[in-house]
Amino acid sequence: MNVLVTGGAGFIGSNFLNLMVPRYPAHRFVCVDKLTYAANLQSLEAVSGAANYALERVDIADWDAVDRLFAKETPDLVIHFAAESHVDRSILGPRDFVKTNIEGTFNLLEACRKAWGNTKEGAKKQGLFHHVSTDEVYGSLGDEGLFTEETRYDPSSPYSASKASSDHLVRAYSRTYGMPVKITNCSNNYGPRQFPEKLIPLMIQHMLERKPLPIYGKGLNVRDWLYVDDHCEAIWAVIERGVVGETYNVGGNSEKKNIEVVDTLCAIVAQETGTKVDELLGLKTYVTDRPGHDLRYAIDATKIRRECGWTPKETFETGMRKTVRWYLDNRAWVEAVKSGEYRKWMDANYGGR
Ligand code: NAD
Ligand code: TYD
Repeated sequence: MNVLVTGGAGFIGSNFLNLMVPRYPAHRFVCVDKLTYAANLQSLEAVSGAANYALERVDIADWDAVDRLFAKETPDLVIHFAAESHVDRSILGPRDFVKTNIEGTFNLLEACRKAWGNTKEGAKKQGLFHHVSTDEVYGSLGDEGLFTEETRYDPSSPYSASKASSDHLVRAYSRTYGMPVKITNCSNNYGPRQFPEKLIPLMIQHMLERKPLPIYGKGLNVRDWLYVDDHCEAIWAVIERGVVGETYNVGGNSEKKNIEVVDTLCAIVAQETGTKVDELLGLKTYVTDRPGHDLRYAIDATKIRRECGWTPKETFETGMRKTVRWYLDNRAWVEAVKSGEYRKWMDANYGGR
């Protein structure tokens, strides 16, 4: 199989490639990435020399570039991770979210339609479009209840609204053109190689630098945390065993208030670095809340468990410890993504591709 992995140089995409490239030597994996600020090719060092791996620097919002890519690399499977993914950035500047998440998804769907044909009229080629989406499309829960695949879409941020739009486009291509698609809507991920703008890596980094730990509002918002490798395995399980045209919710059954996440991190970082925990807890700082801040996300993952036999392997405690250890062992990775030098190196080495 020729597998195009969009956004493969980002957090989840790079963890996915690190798992799947060595596991499936008979499949060719092409990482399709614009290499935005969120990408890091150091995350792909372990697979970059593999015979079944290639990198194409492509902006999915650029139709001509996507069209050229598909002419060269007709895929059997597209796994679509590429997105602008940070809610706070979407509040500050939503334009790139509309371009990449909506137009970019549209371009990929059009390219697949051109390559595979309209299944309702007899497909040219058997393909599959796997769309990686988020539970944030469902909006916010109150104190009770879980998101199921039937929950009404009700996105709150420009990020989640753009992801919701992309989900609708994917479903429309399935219903209108018979395109073989599958969608996964996953809860918050954490783990190695996550850009330190998201809650968990940001807090670890601030603890190591003894900077204030910014907690939005009262820190009572709840997220359902899933270790990144468990998400990657869920995607592969749906590709292999999920039903074409269906949506699967993916979650860790691990609901935590933000303040609990920060307290747990303080305890683990203190243990792992031989620091007094009170020194880290003393860095907690309550700051102005995020506008439109969803109160609670929680996933009912019954369908993927029943139909695809998937369950998460890591608990919150084991996953968090692995994550802290990774950031302690890979400080150069964090420094690199934060430095202007790294961007210059990426542009010099990958600018023309
Ligand atoms: P990320 O921001 O770490 O990585 C995104 C990747 O996409 C980067 O490598 C970036 O360079 C690339 N990209 C951005 N714009 C592009 C464009 N126009 N053309 C080509 N490549 C482009 O994101 P992530 O956390 O790895 O998320 C991956 C996917 O999973 C996203 O679709 C996101 O909505 C979804 N998701 C994320 C989470 C989470 O907790 N991180 C949870 C559920 C779903
Ligand atoms: P984030 O990692 O940005 O993911 P998302 O917004 O997609 O859920 O944030 C997770 C939670 O942590 C969210 O409720 C916002 C909160 N948060 C903070 O309190 N402080 C921070 O510095 C960040 C980045 C997030």
